[in-house]
Amino acid sequence: QPPLLIDTFGRRIEYLRLSVTDRCDLRCTYCIPKGFRGFQEPSSWLRFEEIERLISIMASRGLKRIRLTGGEPLVRRDLPILAARLAAIPGIDDLSLSTNATRLHAFAAPLREAGVRRVNVSLDSLRADRVATICGRDVLDQILAGLGAAKEAGFAPIKINMVAMRGVNDDEIDDMIDFCVEQGFVLRLIEAMPMGATGRNTQYLDLQPIRRRLQQERGLVAADVPGGGPARYMKSPDGRLSIGFITALSEHFCATCNRVRLAVDGTMYLCLGQRDQMAFGPLLRRGASDAEIVEALRSAMMLKPERHEFNEKPEKILRIMAATGG
Ligand code: GTP
Ligand code: 5AD
Ligand code: SF4
Repeated sequence: QPPLLIDTFGRRIEYLRLSVTDRCDLRCTYCIPKGFRGFQEPSSWLRFEEIERLISIMASRGLKRIRLTGGEPLVRRDLPILAARLAAIPGIDDLSLSTNATRLHAFAAPLREAGVRRVNVSLDSLRADRVATICGRDVLDQILAGLGAAKEAGFAPIKINMVAMRGVNDDEIDDMIDFCVEQGFVLRLIEAMPMGATGRNTQYLDLQPIRRRLQQERGLVAADVPGGGPARYMKSPDGRLSIGFITALSEHFCATCNRVRLAVDGTMYLCLGQRDQMAFGPLLRRGASDAEIVEALRSAMMLKPERHEFNEKPEKILRIMAATGG
């Protein structure tokens, strides 16, 4: 079969970010607005068989990696059952999860059992009061318990996602480094992206000076860390610290983009920072043939834009991060 999942810029699309729900049990300041009412109706959610069918077709045409995202993926009922079905699809050799970890304590073992191998956990601070302010609930202890369970269950690597915000948590970067070294986690610093009003109103911090400082102070050298995302990694000479920088605004990574996103209703978003999309929900729902789905995938690839415009048009993307899981 001709490789189908290649876009007009010659980029191979091998990574699907699968949003299994747009709902979340938290309200992080950079993500979902308080009192948000725009969630998808349950009747529009793709069923597990529909997800499995679309991904099987994609996997036969070049897809290799799937990341379960949300909203918060662990609020979707029976997620371990879906995970096991996705892990069994021929061609899928990397199944991972991005979670806020509030429910990871209960789900780590069943998900690992189902075939999820890697987990990325959002954690912006190690101070309970700050976590409560950023996330809208006092959940630090729950998250730490979830991380403990993830270690116990054998996920590797475990990455900590810290959205670095000026005046909010930028004084905690070194504490977070110590914590990750101690626990054996990979730390990733993330630049806030202007997704929806919440993202736009976040106190953006340019990570370039931070990277230069850490590189100098700690003698960091380039490193490779398992994963397929946009982070650029460095490590300490003794190898105990691995740190990734996700510099979407100060130094984007679109030239090597390898992914698309599927929202809970089956809408495929071709770029996080653009509106280009293709609706797979109606096709799957009416039992379209494989040939029709392949044709729709081909058209979708043609729509994938070269890059985001977060710097040039920060007000362009009205949808919030939770709509596609980042
Ligand atoms: P691995 O590298 O496979 O571990 O995953 P990842 O880092 O791609 O996934 P994760 O869900 O942990 O995302 C971390 C951050 O990277 C989030 O803030 C995402 O929004 C951001 N991100 C992931 N993919 C893209 C992308 O294609 N474009 C942009 N602009 N940001 C992305
Ligand atoms: N900008 C950058 N990262 C964000 N995330 C959520 N909203 C934003 C934003 N506006 C991160 C979360 C999570 C990851 C999937 O996306 O912290 O770790
Ligand atoms: Fe790919 Fe768009 Fe992300 Fe750039 S912003 S890496 S093109 S999805």
